[in-house]
Amino acid sequence: MKLWEKGTIGTLTLDNRVVRSATNEHLTGRDGRITAAYLEVYETLARSGVGLILTGHMTVDGKGRADETQICLDAPGAEEDLARLARVIHQAGGKAAVQISHGGLKAPAAVNGRPGRGPSAVDGGEEMSPAEIAALPKQFARGARLAQAAGFDGAQLHLAHGYLLSEFLDPYYNRRTDSYGGSAENRRRIVEEVVAAVRAACGPAFPLLVKINATDVEDTPGFLEDQIALCRRLEALGVDAVEVSRHGFNTLRRQGPYFLPQTLAIRRAVSIPVLAVGGLRAPEEMESVLGQGADFISLSRPFIAQPELMNDLRRGEKSKCVSCNSCYKIYRTQFKRCALHRGEVPQLRALFGEDTP
Ligand SMILES: Cc1cc2nc3c(=O)[nH]c(=O)nc-3n(C[C@H](O)[C@H](O)[C@H](O)COP(=O)(O)O)c2cc1C
Repeated sequence: MKLWEKGTIGTLTLDNRVVRSATNEHLTGRDGRITAAYLEVYETLARSGVGLILTGHMTVDGKGRADETQICLDAPGAEEDLARLARVIHQAGGKAAVQISHGGLKAPAAVNGRPGRGPSAVDGGEEMSPAEIAALPKQFARGARLAQAAGFDGAQLHLAHGYLLSEFLDPYYNRRTDSYGGSAENRRRIVEEVVAAVRAACGPAFPLLVKINATDVEDTPGFLEDQIALCRRLEALGVDAVEVSRHGFNTLRRQGPYFLPQTLAIRRAVSIPVLAVGGLRAPEEMESVLGQGADFISLSRPFIAQPELMNDLRRGEKSKCVSCNSCYKIYRTQFKRCALHRGEVPQLRALFGEDTP
């Protein structure tokens, strides 16, 4: 099976085609420091043989924090925390890349003491000034360099899910009239500047991935072509792989694969690997997605439901995750990540039918 074959992302060789998609653990302190519980999640994933672990998104700017438990790459102690995390993962036999992000308009005032900053002042946020935009390439380069110096095997730039860089790409959020808004070329300008700065800071050999949206927030026809053009540009600038997701993924309850047509269209347009993410639960389905042209499959909620899922997949068993999105809602109040862990199976069965394990 291709699922268990080695694969490469840039200079990185992975033992199999299974990636743990970036997942915010919500297990750090309000000070943005990594906790023992956070380390334990990553140690388990690494020990169980996940090909590549993408960390939850970490912000390059503490003032653009997306929630009160997000790791801040510019906070005191970040260097030490990342080194500890990389060490734990490597000692357990795993490989990992840090997902690097900026909350943009999704950085709430309640957390940051000021409204989120986006390309434009939509959604109650404030418009970024030219000086704030000019600072971004350096901030992202600094974050990626920190991950590299800490010993991580790569970095992934978060260009999806309505966070800052995806807001620049999306015509709904980006209403600027300067050289960072308007045409697709202008909307992707800051992303290209960020990628070029990261490459310059980390060198050509450091594996660099991006996660992008398959659609814009309003499902505008033609956006996929913009994203394909973006991927081609990013490949030319040295990006090593693209993961294809979408804004509002957390409203999708159905089984996947979610964004396969867009993922395959992008794969046909570039020579770098693509990662398919969203709703993948059964090994045979993953194999089919790989057979159709994706290079890796990427999973998030299944690893929350079953941290040692790799063992089940190796036995050919399907994930027990029913995509109910409880993991998205209950972490603050229950300190349990998955409804299956709370013994809510009967209620889930009532909601989702016999598909529930
Ligand atoms: C609790 C939770 C936290 C997430 N955090 C992130 C994140 O930090 N960065 C990111 O790109 N996606 C994040 N995602 C999205 C996942 O990476 C993935 O794209 C999405 O859940 C679909 O995949 P799945 O069906 O395998 O869960 C998160 C998803 C969940 C459920």
